Amino acid sequence: MEIAPALLEEWLREYYFSAKIDIGSSGVQNFSLAELREVVDINDDELNGVVFDDSPTCGNARLRQAIARQWGNGDPEHVMATHGSSEVIFLVMNALLKPGDEVVALDPCYFSYRNLAEARGCRLKPWPLRFESKFVPDLEELKTLITPQTRLLMVNFPHNPTGASVTAEQQNEIIQAAAEAGAYVVWDTALAALTYDEPPLSDPHLLYERAISIGTLSKAYGLAGLRVGWCQAAPDVIQQFVHLRDYTTLYLSPLVELIAARAIEQADDILRVRLRQARTNLEILADWVDQQGELVEWVRPRGGVTAFIRFCYIRNIEDFCRRYAQEYGVLLVPGHCFSYPSHVRLGFGGPTAKLQEALNHLSHLLRSESTEREFFVAS
Ligand SMILES: Cc1ncc(COP(=O)(O)O)c(C=O)c1O
Repeated sequence: MEIAPALLEEWLREYYFSAKIDIGSSGVQNFSLAELREVVDINDDELNGVVFDDSPTCGNARLRQAIARQWGNGDPEHVMATHGSSEVIFLVMNALLKPGDEVVALDPCYFSYRNLAEARGCRLKPWPLRFESKFVPDLEELKTLITPQTRLLMVNFPHNPTGASVTAEQQNEIIQAAAEAGAYVVWDTALAALTYDEPPLSDPHLLYERAISIGTLSKAYGLAGLRVGWCQAAPDVIQQFVHLRDYTTLYLSPLVELIAARAIEQADDILRVRLRQARTNLEILADWVDQQGELVEWVRPRGGVTAFIRFCYIRNIEDFCRRYAQEYGVLLVPGHCFSYPSHVRLGFGGPTAKLQEALNHLSHLLRSESTEREFFVAS
């Protein structure tokens, strides 16, 4: 399979592991096992009792049940648990698409939506979120993009990296537009629980029989390294994913399943701690943006823990992010990883003191680029 490079992962491979402070990632602060066990009830006997047998392809019964109860219609037959939501995206694109199919996907977007669809030989139609329009999704434009040839609409609200979102009415309108064309709606709910001024959206699988909702413990629940994601879909669709999984990861580890099931059963308790921190951090970031005056422009995120901001007088954002990483040890993600080279993705889900420290460094670096700024203004 020929597939485009995953620029975001390449950048993270280069800087994530060496960074002293991370304000590039798209999730909340990750938990240690001990911290998790302060919130979630997993005792030593249960951990010691894990036998490293094979597990069922779609996940063990307790895990599937937990997902179905927490986010779905209660029926575990509609659930498949996976190695992160990345695995679901791979399975969806490979099971449901064939060369020549039309795929409508948000732009910018998480790299795998676009790269996997193109690798399948599909015709990609971007649905743009424009900075100039404050990243407000244009539903009339979406309706012109969806045609009878559209096999799949790929959305992710609240959105990574812009923080854009939609109302419940708009969610219905989006689904209706896809339903009229008989298209699948693949809705990545990675950030669904992280909203600031409005309640989380309904799980799309509850709204439309051809909706496939994708979830993960990586972003809102601080368990990225546990590698647990899932999808909820009609059982016949899940069967198509099972067929492919027989050639890839087979099943999850029973140890991972135990921890994931307990975390999901108490998902709201885990979320509460990190959402409070994200709210505080968002206010700190908003104040910081105000203090930067004309140097920085942004659209305040409605959900998630990333903002897709602009440094107005920095000519080369990628070089700037490299300097920031090398001189200050801080990870930011340059916008070229999303094909938007004049933006940066700034993640505000981490520890508050670290965010403040990183923003102080960032103010200094932005100001020290003032010669470039004069050059940029003059040219
Ligand atoms: C919107 C979105 N979806 C899916 C993923 C994949 O995450 P994971 O495989 O850890 O669930 C990411 C990771 O950054 C993401 O930002």
